[in-house]
Amino acid sequence: MHLLHRIPLLALVSSATLQVAYAGPPLNITFPEKPPASSINVVDSNFIGISWELSSFDTLWGKTVATIPHAMKNYLHNIVARLQKPLRIRVGGNGMDGSTYVPGQKTFIEHTDPEAYFNDIPVNFGPVMFDVMNSMYDTVGPMQFTIGLSMRTPHDFSNVVTLAKAAHEKLGDRLDAMLLGNEPDLYAGHGERDAYDIPTYVKEIGDAVDHLRDAKVLDRPIIGGPTICCGWNLSTILDAGLDQYPYKHYTVQRYPQHNCGGPNEKNTNLTYYLSHMNVAPFLNWQQEGMARAQELDIPVLLTEYNSVACGGSNISSTFGAGLWAVDVGLKAAAVNYSAVFLHTREHDITYNLFDPPTPETSTEPGWITGSTYYSALFLAEVAAAEGSIIVDLNLNNSNSNPEALAAAYGIYDNGGTERGKLALLNFADKQPQVYNIPAGISSTVQVRILTAPEVLERKNISWAGQTVGNNGDLQGVQMTEAVKCADGCAIEVPGPGAALVFLGNSRIFTGNSTIAGIGGYLSGAKISSSPLLGLSSALVLLSTWLML
Ligand SMILES: *[C@@H]1O[C@H](CO)[C@@H](O)[C@H](O)[C@H]1NC(C)=O
Ligand SMILES: *[C@@H]1O[C@H](CO)[C@@H](O)[C@H](O)[C@H]1NC(C)=O
Ligand SMILES: *[C@@H]1O[C@H](CO)[C@@H](O)[C@H](O)[C@H]1NC(C)=O
Ligand SMILES: *[C@@H]1O[C@H](CO)[C@@H](O)[C@H](O)[C@H]1NC(C)=O
Ligand SMILES: *[C@@H]1O[C@H](CO)[C@@H](O)[C@H](O)[C@H]1NC(C)=O
Ligand SMILES: *[C@@H]1O[C@H](CO)[C@@H](O)[C@H](O)[C@H]1NC(C)=O
Ligand SMILES: *[C@@H]1O[C@H](CO)[C@@H](O)[C@H](O)[C@H]1NC(C)=O
Ligand SMILES: *[C@@H]1O[C@H](CO)[C@@H](O)[C@H](O)[C@H]1NC(C)=O
Repeated sequence: MHLLHRIPLLALVSSATLQVAYAGPPLNITFPEKPPASSINVVDSNFIGISWELSSFDTLWGKTVATIPHAMKNYLHNIVARLQKPLRIRVGGNGMDGSTYVPGQKTFIEHTDPEAYFNDIPVNFGPVMFDVMNSMYDTVGPMQFTIGLSMRTPHDFSNVVTLAKAAHEKLGDRLDAMLLGNEPDLYAGHGERDAYDIPTYVKEIGDAVDHLRDAKVLDRPIIGGPTICCGWNLSTILDAGLDQYPYKHYTVQRYPQHNCGGPNEKNTNLTYYLSHMNVAPFLNWQQEGMARAQELDIPVLLTEYNSVACGGSNISSTFGAGLWAVDVGLKAAAVNYSAVFLHTREHDITYNLFDPPTPETSTEPGWITGSTYYSALFLAEVAAAEGSIIVDLNLNNSNSNPEALAAAYGIYDNGGTERGKLALLNFADKQPQVYNIPAGISSTVQVRILTAPEVLERKNISWAGQTVGNNGDLQGVQMTEAVKCADGCAIEVPGPGAALVFLGNSRIFTGNSTIAGIGGYLSGAKISSSPLLGLSSALVLLSTWLML
């Protein structure tokens, strides 16, 4: 076995000699030895997941087991390789709620309504979906799957039960949860149900649970919900009786703005996303319900988030929106969520993590990587194998200071018992910021940087010196700066940008997580003749965790 490349350990360039405009004077980090008593939420390394709309899932994961896009293998393996727990994958959304599982269907997905509203595309889907999911798992490594079950037709749960049984059987232990009903608080507003209310909903959940229990798919806790977004409160739903059912997760979904009626000054306001003080109110709208969930010892997951609902706006693919997605992920862990899922959809939706060249040519290279994919990569390196507690250090009063352009999180590893990392965010456009780490925290620190030239950048983004190529492959040499810090040290974070600072003994992912080469089944090419396919499993072995 040979080393793919050496990891350069560069000394931090002294900032004093450079003529650059700084966002402001250096900011002093305070990183207490232990987290505050109120920070008890230990998140697993896989607290960042990816959520997929069913209607476009086959264009991203492949229509058959034999035609899984190489690019998607790379995109997913890059993240799987950075986690020590299975990557969370949720398939669902409004479209899945209106879709039908057809056990005898030979194809993955058939679109049933060419006139469908683009935010709610119903399809018929067959067992090929599970085959593709299992094959992807076998190729890229551990994932845990969550699928949606509809609550739109409570007079007839037969398709729900058929799907649940098939998922249970085909995915086995890889099935983490089934979410009962997607955004039921919008059913009435969207015309799915008349005069729908929480008591009706909870009663119907009871019926669904009975059917699923009878079908023997509730032998372990596997149901999640209520997957509300907009009109209802988790606490109200729990009080109305949802707490009596055997839920594995409570789930909520949220976007700070929407583009359902077209662009406006709110959903195109990048400044909103660059202001750290907006993140807590965005995430804490169900604080009461989350406190109840904590008493019941049921984790709360944010099963969908992204910048702008109804398909994004013109700011959603910017690096600024990507930094926001990092900030939300970290903050969510700090305010008691157990996991968050970045949502991705069909081709050309601006907030997507990735897009094939066209929906019809996803087996070919030429994929476009969204800024939010880099957010997922960053977040995948944050939490430790034994779990971490993430604390917002309220740097420069950034939780309440509208002028703050910086934020910082302390990450306590080893289950939250010891200081492991710092995440330093700089929202300033084209202006670096220096963060002073005090003496006595770590004799050396290793620094990785997420950055782009400006907040409006959409393509030239890099994480630890690497940029994603057109086949989902990480290109360039992975860069980690080692900085002596026994007597304190100054870490310069480019603006806009974010740094992940690893203290002395924390584990760092190194290696090449690209597993699939270009080709194999380009249009007109033979499917199994590519020598690159055989190479991929060897490369999986190379992307291991090393102690530094
Ligand atoms: C940071 O600490 C240094 C050294 O103790 C001090 O001179 C400086 O004023 C502090 N800066 C801020 C913004 O508090
Ligand atoms: C998170 O949970 C802790 C422990 O119960 C609680 O003190 C804290 O207020 C919660 N945080 C939020 C933002 O609700
Ligand atoms: C949800 O909670 C908020 C804040 O506590 C409250 O204003 C709102 O009326 C509640 N909505 C429902 C439907 O209970
Ligand atoms: C844009 O966002 C900023 C920061 O949250 C806010 O101060 C400003 O009022 C917003 N502008 C509009 C037009 O919503
Ligand atoms: C987004 O569109 C709005 C108009 O709807 C425009 O004012 C704004 O400059 C655009 N922003 C970007 C980053 O393109
Ligand atoms: C820190 O806060 C001060 C006071 O509000 C503000 O002027 C400055 O821009 C902030 N600096 C950063 C980097 O957030
Ligand atoms: C990409 O961004 C980096 C800074 O992050 C910059 O140094 C480089 O010149 C940019 N490359 C291009 C082609 O614009
Ligand atoms: C990673 O491995 C792939 C596949 O062998 C190769 O094409 C690529 O050059 C490697 N990348 C780096 C940064 O070494």
